[in-house]
Order: sequence, then structure tokens, then C-alpha cells
Amino acid sequence: MEKIYIFESSLREGEQAAGCGFNPKSKLEIAQQLEKLGVDIIEAGFPVSSPGELAAVKLVASKIKKCSVAGLARAVKKDIDACWQALKKAKDPRIHTFIATSDIHIKYKFGKGREEILKMAVEAVKYAKRYTRNVEFSPEDASRTEPEFLYRVLESVIDAGAVVVNIPDTVGYSIPTEWFDLIKSIKENVSNIDKAIISVHCHNDLGLATANSIAAIEAGARQVECTINGIGERAGNASLEEIVMTIHTRKRLLQKTTDINIKEIYSTSRLISRLTGIYVQPNKAIVGGNAFAHSAGIHVDGILKNRTTYEIMRPEDVGAQGHKIVLTARSGRHALEDKLKKLGYKLKDKDFQKTYEAFLSLADKKREIFDEDLKTIVEEEIFRIPETYSLQYVNVVTGNKTIPTATVEIKKQGKIIEEASCGDGPVDAVYKAIDKITKMQIKLLDYSIKSVTGGKEALGEVTVRVKINGKEFMGRSASTDIIEASAKAYLKAVNRACKPCSRY
Ligand code: KIV
Repeated sequence: MEKIYIFESSLREGEQAAGCGFNPKSKLEIAQQLEKLGVDIIEAGFPVSSPGELAAVKLVASKIKKCSVAGLARAVKKDIDACWQALKKAKDPRIHTFIATSDIHIKYKFGKGREEILKMAVEAVKYAKRYTRNVEFSPEDASRTEPEFLYRVLESVIDAGAVVVNIPDTVGYSIPTEWFDLIKSIKENVSNIDKAIISVHCHNDLGLATANSIAAIEAGARQVECTINGIGERAGNASLEEIVMTIHTRKRLLQKTTDINIKEIYSTSRLISRLTGIYVQPNKAIVGGNAFAHSAGIHVDGILKNRTTYEIMRPEDVGAQGHKIVLTARSGRHALEDKLKKLGYKLKDKDFQKTYEAFLSLADKKREIFDEDLKTIVEEEIFRIPETYSLQYVNVVTGNKTIPTATVEIKKQGKIIEEASCGDGPVDAVYKAIDKITKMQIKLLDYSIKSVTGGKEALGEVTVRVKINGKEFMGRSASTDIIEASAKAYLKAVNRACKPCSRY
């Protein structure tokens, strides 16, 4: 199988994504992860752009030992000099020089003619060759360049010494069949093309960057430029994980391979997301939170019988946790049954039916049913938690100029106990009063409230997680009065700690 070289550009093109910028420490951390991922070339930045950028690329170049490190330079001497300054300590430094070749760019950006551009391209490659044998040239906006001129530029830069010619679809304009034809025509019309590797650099303006990259590979490209999570200018670039997993998943058809250690894909994606602050959309292929989540009843049923019914890749292969079965109102009985088993519940048919009905009624109100929801349903519907403490009365005095004070009355084994307490807020005051009654050491780990129905009269649902004697317990309650819901949720957790259910 033919190897496809992975040219990773998150540190250069990815950094061009709006709002994204890496400091030298982050650049190095990412570069080291990319090295672990097994990319062939890391494009570490655009050294001439600022002294800080030059220093960052220099740092990456000095530390990375397993891959080639590249820097970007316009087709001008000062850029190429800066690039070399940054790269000279790298194991296999690559100077990546570029100039736009489409008439639109030549006219509006440069105000020059084609011949002048051709001359600049050739001179830049020759100049870069004085520093290193490893020179890559890109005719920017190649997809909108007149093909005959593109062939001439490519032939000339290869004659000047370019070892890689990278064909960019700078504005993400091409579609796969057209892009395939362009790469094929370059192979047929550039007489010395066998002396260089053809690369592609596809943008995602029409959502076709990965498809175009794969089409180019089928047409004979041997290097692809890509970024993790597809970050980059505007709509971004072809995403590494999509290209690599397409090659991996369809290797029999494509007859290509890469050196990527695919188990590192997921953690690399998360690192980039963390350091850029750019969230990965949930439905993003390969690395999105939902990429391996199944929800519809028919799908879940298929997956539970045999995962290959609806999974073409194993989440574990890319370093993600196993697939996720998301329980919603449409998940069906089989999914619920499977989840209950995993949670350790063995229910009789009658109990299962009851649980299923309660599940459906909650699922109609909530988008997703979590494990904790199911535990609560089962405990309330089937294994009722004995009410050691039950709320009789709660009253709170609060306001922006008042110290919140709560009075709580609770029944314990037929006896009514009343306590009052102040707190930082009304809920805190109620919980402190309850603590006085139970005399337990209760640590509130988590408190959340949300409305479960619409409108001003919505039910407020309170969920709490507490720690009592080193163990965690959860409680949930809903009421139109959120203070009452808060008190009852807290007491449910306390009651679980008092008499954990013996039936499961
Ligand atoms: O998008 C583009 O054309 C580029 C080139 C410099 C490769 O980033």
C-alpha cells in the first residue's frame, strides 16, 4: 500500500482560525502531541510574522525529533530568511514558500502580471534551496488558477528544486470530481512532476475539504495538508482525523496507508480544543461527542445485537471511550432493558413495564435520560426508599436586605422535630436547619435546578448529590416551589443514606 504523508498545519493554518492563537508553550505541547500521533511534517508557524512567532517555531524545531518541521514563507527573501532562522535546528527542516497564481489574486493583491509572479516563485524556491533541500512550493488559489499557467508554474518551481508541490484550494471552491481531474491533469501535463510529491491543501468553505483531499489522493496526491478538528481560516481545513480514518476504514478500496497512530486521535483533538478554546461540534465526524452515540430505538437495538450494524469504526480505535447509548423517548424497550442490566437491576416483567412507563413520561419532559435519572425512577417506582425523614413544613424569610432564615419541620418515626437556621441563601438556610435535625455530617457536592415544564408556573426540578460517611447519595424532587423541591431532594438523599434499599 502506498503511504500518504500527513502534513499537519494546526500550528500555522489552525492558528489562523478566528480567535485562535498559541503561545510558545502551547505550540510546543501541541507539537509534541502531534509527534506522538505520528504525523510526518509539522507546520509550526509563519516565522516572519512576529519575533514571538519566530521564537515559537524555533522552540518547536529544536525539540521535535521524529518529524520534519516546516515554516511558511511568502515568496520573498526576508520571509525565507526568517523561516530558516527558525528552522535551522530542526531534524529535517522544510521551507514552505508560496505565491498566489490565480488571475484574481495576481490582479487585486499584487497588481502584477503572470510572468512576474512566475519569476518570483522560481526565485523564492532557488533562494530557499540555498538553505535546505526540503523545499515545498504552493501556488495559492490553485483551484481558480488558469490550468495552463498552473502547469507552467509547477514545472518551473520543480526545475528550481521544489521537492513538494502543494496544490491549495485556498477558498474551498472545488468539488471532488473537479479536484480529482485537476490533480490528474497536473500529473499528465507537468513534464517533470515525477521529481516532486504532489500535495493538496483543501479548505472547507463548502464542507468538501475532506472529500476533496480523498479525491486528490485517488488521483495521485501523496501528501495531504490538514489540521486537527479541521481548524483553520474561515470554515477551516480538511481535518486530519477524517482523512486518516477514511484511509484507515476504506484501505481495501483506496490501497493507501498513513503512519498515524490512530489511538492518539481523540486525545489530540481534546488538547487542541482545550488550547484553542474552540469547541468540537457534537456531530463532528470521528471526534465529536455524538460520533459514537446511538439513540434511536432501531439503531440501539441493532448495536446491541451486533455493533457493526451501525458502527463502521470502533470508538476505542481512535482513543475514544466506547460507544454511548443515549436514552431518549425514542430509544425503545431494548435499550432501557440493556441500560438497567448494566446498572445492576434485574426487574420482573411487571416492574420493568412500570419502569418503562415512568421512563417514557420523564423522557417526554427531558431530552436525555441519564443513569442517575434511571436510578431515581427505579428506586421511586419499584424499590421505594423508606422515608426516615419526611418534610412537613418549610418556611423561609429572605430578601436582598435580610439574612435568609429557614424554619423546617420534619417527621421522624412519628415524631415532629422543628429547627431554624440562617444561611448564605434560602436553600443554604433550609439545608442547615435539616442538618440540625438529622445531626448528620452532610457535604453538599452538587446542586442543580432546572425547569422541567414551560411557562411561569413551570415545575422546578432540583437534583442534589451529597456525601455522608464517605458515600455519595443523590436526591431529586420537583415542585412549583423551588424551596420545597430543594428540601425534598436533600431529604431523599439523606433517606437513601439512612436505609439504602436492600433489594438491589
Ligand atoms: O490556503 C492556502 O492557500 C494556504 C497556502 C499558503 C498553502 O494556506
